[in-house]
Amino acid sequence: MKKVGLALLGAGTIGSGVLKVLKENGEMIKNREGLEIEVRRILVRDKNKKRNIPVDPDLLTDKPEEIFLDESIDVIAEFMGGEMPAFQYIRDALRQGKSVITANKEVIAKHWDELEDEARKSGAGLYFEASVAGGIPIIKSVRRSLQANNILKFMGIINGTTNFILTRMSEEGRDFADVLAEAQRLGYAEPDPTADVEGYDARYKLSILSTICFRNRVAVDNIYCEGITKISADDIEYARQLGFGIKLLAIAKKQNGKIEARVHPTFIPLSHPLYAVRDSYNAIYIEGDMVGNLMFYGRGAGDLPTASALVSDIVTACQNEGAHHRTRLDEEAVAFEKDWKDEYYLRLVVSDKPGVLAEIAGILGRHNVSLDSVMQKLRGNDKATLIFITHEAHEDWINGALTEMRSHPSVISVESVIRVER
Ligand SMILES: NC(=O)c1ccc[n+]([C@@H]2O[C@H](COP(=O)([O-])OP(=O)(O)OC[C@H]3O[C@@H](n4cnc5c(N)ncnc54)[C@H](OP(=O)(O)O)[C@@H]3O)[C@@H](O)[C@H]2O)c1
Repeated sequence: MKKVGLALLGAGTIGSGVLKVLKENGEMIKNREGLEIEVRRILVRDKNKKRNIPVDPDLLTDKPEEIFLDESIDVIAEFMGGEMPAFQYIRDALRQGKSVITANKEVIAKHWDELEDEARKSGAGLYFEASVAGGIPIIKSVRRSLQANNILKFMGIINGTTNFILTRMSEEGRDFADVLAEAQRLGYAEPDPTADVEGYDARYKLSILSTICFRNRVAVDNIYCEGITKISADDIEYARQLGFGIKLLAIAKKQNGKIEARVHPTFIPLSHPLYAVRDSYNAIYIEGDMVGNLMFYGRGAGDLPTASALVSDIVTACQNEGAHHRTRLDEEAVAFEKDWKDEYYLRLVVSDKPGVLAEIAGILGRHNVSLDSVMQKLRGNDKATLIFITHEAHEDWINGALTEMRSHPSVISVESVIRVER
């Protein structure tokens, strides 16, 4: 029986979840894995705060040095959140040769190189399964079970808050602001929802997952990011009429030595398995050159699902002590594709005059953009809504056409431009 001393940095939602899992399933883990995990210290901000679950007050400390100077601590698990001081604590632990498990997507996405470097130098392990899609074991699956594949592409719903909002909008015909307020009331959205609704949270996770999938560093700055704040109930209704739904997708592809990585609202067919992912659930649809398509589905957040991934990492870290498996990235230089080819949904409000539809279609044609479908709806007050789904077109072509459309005398406004994935 191996005995390992563990320190927790944080005892909030996720820290309490980890304590619950260790309490309820610790004995089972001990018997199955031959491993006795003992929590020896817990770092918090306020030792006197009321906790979600009973915690031995003698374990709590607000002094990080009590953890870093304690030689009985072998492994450190971080779930404080935020960039600082979490980054410094993770780096210091790795420097001391202590393996670290973290749920912190921001720290891993921003400081990957430095932390991997520290781990490589000291031989400590760095594990971050819970930083992407909470309870879904996607990182381990890619690393440990898909080694025989080149990953060609993946598309993920990796932010539960925005999926909850888009599900409610599409099922109840409600507007973004109205559903966001409900999500905040129910605790699905933060009081400041920016990181979720603008796509930043998904962008951190995409940076980590695409780096793992393509074995090339995909930095946050190389990822295009667009949130869901401009999606309207009208777009969702028109999408439905055309056979599509709207999801916030994190998409990454590697082709011909070029990586394309982006987070944006996306039209996907109502028959696509990702469309069936409702409410705050997460899913990742991934294509390997040998295995074909796989889909991973489950809870992307929450105390126990996230703790399930963290405790699994803790067990792996304890078992691998001294045999750290660091991420091996390929040396080859990759370029980041910025001028993607996509199909697009365009929605315009125009003056209801004869010939306008043909003139707008003509502008698209002049910019090489051909059309898959067209819909026209009268709005009253001499206005009409024009809706187009294009064939695949370079982003540059679409932008050229949009610039020309915006200065056309009959175009009142370009309301929406949303990418389409089949
Ligand atoms: N919530 C989820 O569903 C979820 C899912 C996946 C990943 N994550 C990630 O998990 C991490 C933690 O999330 P959470 O929801 O558990 O956060 P939380 O409930 O706010 O808990 C944070 C904990 O860290 C402690 N803490 C924060 N700053 C500290 C500091 N400077 N010094 C000492 N202690 C500090 C807090 O102490 P006090 O208790 O004394 O305030 C608290 O116990 C984040 O990185 C998050 O992105 C969360």
